[in-house]
Amino acid sequence: KDTITVGLLGLGTVGSGVIEILEDHKESIQHKTGCNVTIKTVLVNNLSKPRDLKNTSTKLTDRYEDITQDPEIDVVVEVMGGIDHTLTILREAIENGKHIVTANKDLVAQHGDELFEASYRNKCDLFYEASVAGGIPIIRSILDGLSSDKIRKMMGIVNGTTNYILTKMTKEGVDFDAVLKEAQELGFAEADPTADVDGLDAARKMTILSILGFSMPFNLEDVEIKGIRGISLADIQYAEQLGYSVKLIGVAEHDDTGVAVSVEPTLLPIEHPLSSVNDEYNAVYVYGDAVGETMFYGPGAGKLPTATAVVSDLIAVVKSLRLGTSGTAYVQPQFSKQVKEKKD
Ligand code: HSE
Repeated sequence: KDTITVGLLGLGTVGSGVIEILEDHKESIQHKTGCNVTIKTVLVNNLSKPRDLKNTSTKLTDRYEDITQDPEIDVVVEVMGGIDHTLTILREAIENGKHIVTANKDLVAQHGDELFEASYRNKCDLFYEASVAGGIPIIRSILDGLSSDKIRKMMGIVNGTTNYILTKMTKEGVDFDAVLKEAQELGFAEADPTADVDGLDAARKMTILSILGFSMPFNLEDVEIKGIRGISLADIQYAEQLGYSVKLIGVAEHDDTGVAVSVEPTLLPIEHPLSSVNDEYNAVYVYGDAVGETMFYGPGAGKLPTATAVVSDLIAVVKSLRLGTSGTAYVQPQFSKQVKEKKD
């Protein structure tokens, strides 16, 4: 096959980034995959809104069946967000043999088991690099780069919106609501930004990292979560005077007695490397028995960084299609679930 045909679900910040990267990097993608990758159909809510689709042959639709039931479409790229309705669409797409690329951490954190199982059964790929830490290839690093090791701990900043808010409050003394609005306008925040502010988005990402890193089933409900809503400008300024920064930190640890995962605002000494991770940037430490300490750093939110992860997944799907290895990336968890009791 010389052309791989894509159906795109969603044309918001990340969706338009995907279109932009596929167009701007067309030749190098062609070179790397030996294929043309073309978007045939895009699912949108509002058909009358003007859009820049670059490729004039791309069609818009408001019926998801135009994608899930189109035999010409090989890959469904999901960047629309949401849980129940999106799960229905992806289920149908997988049952119809479509490979999936998704940026949807809510879905992967909550319904990953079902989606992995369905895609494995249908010999379809399911990639989700963009679901954690935007442009940082953290999932691939855990699943491939560190696959020979036993991961013991993962820790870091995995939400760009709250890090942006905390940075601006610290450096510019701006108040919470004004800077949240700015983060929304920049396209960092979730459709419902309470998911960012209350720590749920970071908890979803730590859930995904825990399942993959510890090779164990793990649920969002098992995460101890505190967001940044209660933090005032005065708290941040006082911490700074004492030589600390305030960061929303996710920690996932695995020892002989089980796994414990938390997300909470944390005081870090100003000289700690995570203290200098600013704006929408994310950073994740991964500690392995053999490798020791590794650190991954990069933009954790935003149009092009997130779209980069999506398009890299798309390239991975195309490569495995050409090699005939579709659906083989999934590995069942090695361990049964063992979670420590929450602190409170
Ligand atoms: N709302 C998310 C964040 C987007 O701020 O990190 C990227 O997952």
